Amino acid sequence: MPTHNQHKRQFLKYSSLGLAIAALPKFVFANSKVLQNKVNPNFKADVELEFTAKNSEVQILQQGNKTVVQKFVAQVLTGDPSTVLNLSDNYLGPIINLHQGQKVRVFFNNSLKEPAIIHWHGLHVPQHSDGHPMYAIQSGQQYVYEFEVLNRAGTNFYHSHTHGETGRQVYNGLAGLIRVTDTQEQKLDLPTGEYDLPLVIQDRTFDSNNQLRYVRKMPERMIGFLGDMILVNGKPNIEFAVKSRTYRFRALNGSNSRIYKLGWDDGTPITVIATDGGLLQQPVTKPYVMLAPAERLDLWLDFSGRKLGAELILYSLPYQGVMSGMYHRMGRMQSKHITPGTKFKIASFKVTTIVSDSPPLPNKLVPIPRFTAKDVNNLANPIPIGLSMQHMSALINGKSFAMHKTMPMEQVELGSNKKIKIFHAHSMGGGRMGMMSKMLSMAHPIHLHGQQYQILSRTYSGNNPKAYATVKEGFIDNGWKDTVLVMPDEEIEIIKPFADYTGLFLYHCHNLEHEDLGMMRQFLVS
Ligand code: C2O
Ligand code: CU
Ligand code: CU
Repeated sequence: MPTHNQHKRQFLKYSSLGLAIAALPKFVFANSKVLQNKVNPNFKADVELEFTAKNSEVQILQQGNKTVVQKFVAQVLTGDPSTVLNLSDNYLGPIINLHQGQKVRVFFNNSLKEPAIIHWHGLHVPQHSDGHPMYAIQSGQQYVYEFEVLNRAGTNFYHSHTHGETGRQVYNGLAGLIRVTDTQEQKLDLPTGEYDLPLVIQDRTFDSNNQLRYVRKMPERMIGFLGDMILVNGKPNIEFAVKSRTYRFRALNGSNSRIYKLGWDDGTPITVIATDGGLLQQPVTKPYVMLAPAERLDLWLDFSGRKLGAELILYSLPYQGVMSGMYHRMGRMQSKHITPGTKFKIASFKVTTIVSDSPPLPNKLVPIPRFTAKDVNNLANPIPIGLSMQHMSALINGKSFAMHKTMPMEQVELGSNKKIKIFHAHSMGGGRMGMMSKMLSMAHPIHLHGQQYQILSRTYSGNNPKAYATVKEGFIDNGWKDTVLVMPDEEIEIIKPFADYTGLFLYHCHNLEHEDLGMMRQFLVS
């Protein structure tokens, strides 16, 4: 008798792309329901946290009224008290400090008036602790997460993941940063404490009453919400007072849809020591770096040798090619002060103290074993992630998100490594529809839950190399990644491992308006 898996593989072989939709096996539901809201007594947590999502008021703008926000607050119930680092007077949730091997239990209370669920973006955790929108809890309910930190040292991100509402909830404040450390990182002499700082970049629009404005009309849903003002670590016009030494700034693009091209305007290059999945094998220095929504880059900023009072400004530098002319005009209307792709200030750094020593940049960080062709079992037959947009829809392989469904090509064996090809699928609509979809082409930051992946190749085949040249030096493709920016006319191949956990793991565009519009699917690992 063929096993369930053999059946499935045959099914996979004979069903053509996108036609068959397999229902989810029953056991996945069964499992998840049992685990959902109970403490597993066999899970011996090293640290227990309580998270609450609630409405709050925060003084974001210096002048005038406080702003009504939605906010995560957290406290340590048992274990290391430094696990939670609260940011004072902020809509961002606290920084969560974890280390590899630690077992974490989180009690999440929803004190909002609407459903919510937390996703630990970047962490490789079991399905029931991954914040799948099927687990969104109602006002007044509690959800229990239990997971072991398997990740390497790096910077991760937590945020609300309520289907259809993720964009609005994250915009209203439901997000925060996670730092993971491990023994390999601790052997390196990297900046710590006051020299290891967050750089969470977000754009927001305020009304005349200092309240957040979130619009979800046609242009916003199609190109994504673009704010009018840049906030860093939850504050406008941020200026860091720094010492004349080196710093680690953990940059996270926490914006709904805006893409940044980070750089100095005097041509000083920028050095990166980590990507989404943590420390690189060695530091990488670039003229500028691209940072798409949900991507993280740990920047090595060196102020040594600078004079007292020196001021440096980190910008988003001008770029082109992330969207068609039509979108560009819509974006300009939406965000009057900062049109996508124009130059604007992110943060300034002022040298206020001169110190004599500064940790040098290590020339080796942490080895990254590379996947090769022999590590994947579908080399000739990569799993497609075909991106397309039509009027008021954003699709993957021609489909919208369906809460409990996967296609056969989305069903993968536990323990396998898969080659995945991410591309713009304009032809899926065919003829006129295909043309239209090409006009609606834009860059999509594609995020896959579960384990971090590696980028095999990035190929541009468009007919505007001049525009592409304004961004192409800024991608760091040799680290572990969970989110990759796919430019128009680009095709990206990745290798993604599916180890450790069975169940449903989402993949989606992290332009949050696209995600909410349905540009999300999931893998079933079994
Ligand atoms: Cu940060 Cu499913 O996302
Ligand atoms: Cu995620
Ligand atoms: Cu998108």
